[in-house]
Amino acid sequence: MFWHVSDDSVRSAKLCYCPLIVQWNVNFILVSFTLLFSAHGSDIIHGTKAPENSMHYMASVQNKKGEHVCGGFLINEDFVVSAAHCNDSPTHVVLGKHNLKNGNHQKIKIENKTIHENYQQVGLGNDIMLIKLSEKVKLCHGVEIIQIPHAEINLKENQVCQVAGWGKTETHGKPVDELMVVNVSVITSKNCEEQWPGLPANVICAGGYNTTKGFCQGDSGGPLVCHGFAVGVVSFNYYKNCTYPDKPNIYTDISKYRKWIDEVLRKKLIQCQMK
Ligand SMILES: *[C@@H]1O[C@H](CO)[C@@H](O)[C@H](O)[C@H]1NC(C)=O
Ligand SMILES: *[C@@H]1O[C@H](CO)[C@@H](O)[C@H](O)[C@H]1NC(C)=O
Ligand SMILES: *[C@@H]1O[C@H](CO)[C@@H](O)[C@H](O)[C@H]1NC(C)=O
Ligand SMILES: *[C@@H]1O[C@H](CO)[C@@H](O)[C@H](O)[C@H]1NC(C)=O
Repeated sequence: MFWHVSDDSVRSAKLCYCPLIVQWNVNFILVSFTLLFSAHGSDIIHGTKAPENSMHYMASVQNKKGEHVCGGFLINEDFVVSAAHCNDSPTHVVLGKHNLKNGNHQKIKIENKTIHENYQQVGLGNDIMLIKLSEKVKLCHGVEIIQIPHAEINLKENQVCQVAGWGKTETHGKPVDELMVVNVSVITSKNCEEQWPGLPANVICAGGYNTTKGFCQGDSGGPLVCHGFAVGVVSFNYYKNCTYPDKPNIYTDISKYRKWIDEVLRKKLIQCQMK
């Protein structure tokens, strides 16, 4: 049941992802590796402001200082999906506001976080986290849920999807207050693997390559939305470089984790009923 990383794939990953630091010691490579891939605090590149009447499932995952850490999205009244690498510091989520500076929103404490048991670090896959909220979300005033795929899906090459977030809008920028959205096209895994040798399993590639559009640090955890379904979770880009075209942007493929999600939701529900 455990997801094994073969030595070969780790080696090629290091060579491929961090060419500048191969001469450093292993610990440092691992640490740097994490930093390198983190789309933490990622932002949207060449996007536009998300219309007020859209994307009401977006969540800002925040730390105790009220700083935006990552994106996320609401899949039912109790759970927000985000990325496993967003686990560091979040304490609550904010729903129902495109502009994070505006007051009128639902701010809800995180009760519990479940990271995929096979997640090791960004760049190695399984980058998905379920956030259980401490109280039920009120589905009104600009708060809605988004559906996730019921079964495995195969996206078509060049299919246009959207990614949204409060991440940076340029490589050296800062996260933004207004939710931004951009259209990105799906890239086949074959084309993607040519750019990313050693790419982990269960990912979707879209944007960042063959286009100037994509995500950036601070957009992590946000959804890739195709035909109204959240099909991907923002995971990583290349060396935090959001000056596109670069290498394809990588998302966790939600459809491959549907069973895991259902299982976590079911267990948590039982826990709640027992309380
Ligand atoms: C949080 O979830 C973990 C595993 O999913 C569980 O072991 C733990 O008891 C939960 N903690 C709380 C406070 O519900
Ligand atoms: C994004 O894609 C949708 C669907 O293909 C299209 O209707 C819309 O005009 C596009 N938006 C922009 C800003 O390109
Ligand atoms: C690049 O994008 C164009 C359209 O935007 C598409 O027709 C073409 O197939 C894409 N090429 C690759 C390698 O993804
Ligand atoms: C980012 O990628 C672009 C396109 O590959 C490249 O031109 C640029 O030099 C890169 N920037 C950094 C800081 O690596």
